[in-house]
Amino acid sequence: MERKRILTGDRPTGKLHLGHYTGSLRKRVELQDAYECLFIIADLHMLTTQPGKEKIAQVANNARDIVLDYLAAGIDPEKSTIFVQSAVPETYELNLFFEMLVSVPRLERLPSLKEMARDANLEVMPFGLLGYPVLQAADILLPRAHLVPVGKDNEAHVELAREIAKRFNGLYGEIFPIPEVMTEGPALVGTDGEGKMSKSRGNAIFLSDDDATVSRRVMGMYTDPQRIRADMPGRVEDNPVFIYHDAFNPNAEEVADLKDHYRQGRVGDVEVKRRLVAAINEFLEPMRERRAQYGSRPGLVDDILIEGIRRVRGTARE
Ligand code: TRP
Repeated sequence: MERKRILTGDRPTGKLHLGHYTGSLRKRVELQDAYECLFIIADLHMLTTQPGKEKIAQVANNARDIVLDYLAAGIDPEKSTIFVQSAVPETYELNLFFEMLVSVPRLERLPSLKEMARDANLEVMPFGLLGYPVLQAADILLPRAHLVPVGKDNEAHVELAREIAKRFNGLYGEIFPIPEVMTEGPALVGTDGEGKMSKSRGNAIFLSDDDATVSRRVMGMYTDPQRIRADMPGRVEDNPVFIYHDAFNPNAEEVADLKDHYRQGRVGDVEVKRRLVAAINEFLEPMRERRAQYGSRPGLVDDILIEGIRRVRGTARE
């Protein structure tokens, strides 16, 4: 039987961090064998909120960084296809046809678009941003994807892609499979404990951070704000340092001991953090090795993208 096809991706706004890994990359790596996976670097989507020349100038570098992050995380370019959205002009064509099948009020009801406009400090809604999920539907349906792994904030977009597919099929015949959402992991809290990890909040640990950077970022993390001395009982729940221990420290016994001692006021924050630095560095080490291997082959990343674009365009023209 033919393998089902998965499509998901990222906007090239910067390097990927630990939150991307726990939320989506980990699962993508696992899915590669059972599914045909396509990963899109959605540079046109980036333009919907960041059309400035300076941002565009960074796209090529950001795209290459993301490819290296993918490869470092374990995405295998032999098994999976990685491509750049803007290099597949069929996307723009399909997007235009889909625009005829969606109403403006339907798009205006999506809370994600209002949030994106607000985050980008836009006073009025750009036409292109209103069309964000229509373009996303073109990404998904163009290669006839069956499954779309996305975070909570993007689930409504996949729902719209389903509606468009049904509408299109109803008008013109059975062209597109109706894609399904695959729910991703919950967002990881940032090092400040305030909100989810994100580059713009400055609370991220990147997959490409070196030993010393990881150490600096972890040692500066927020912990239990009530606890001002190491001999006071501390709170483990909602404590970002322990959330990270649970996520990245494979030594469950050590984590259980640290939690016990922390609750009883028998271990200091510094010690808990030192152990976390060691765990995260160990977790990132295989990624660093793969990054160094792939990064040492000049032109490799570009070749992977060129091959990905070639494959997707082949399907798209069909
Ligand atoms: N909208 C996604 C984001 O929030 C990126 C994206 C663009 C995407 N096209 C897609 C995700 C198609 C899944 C499928 O960054």
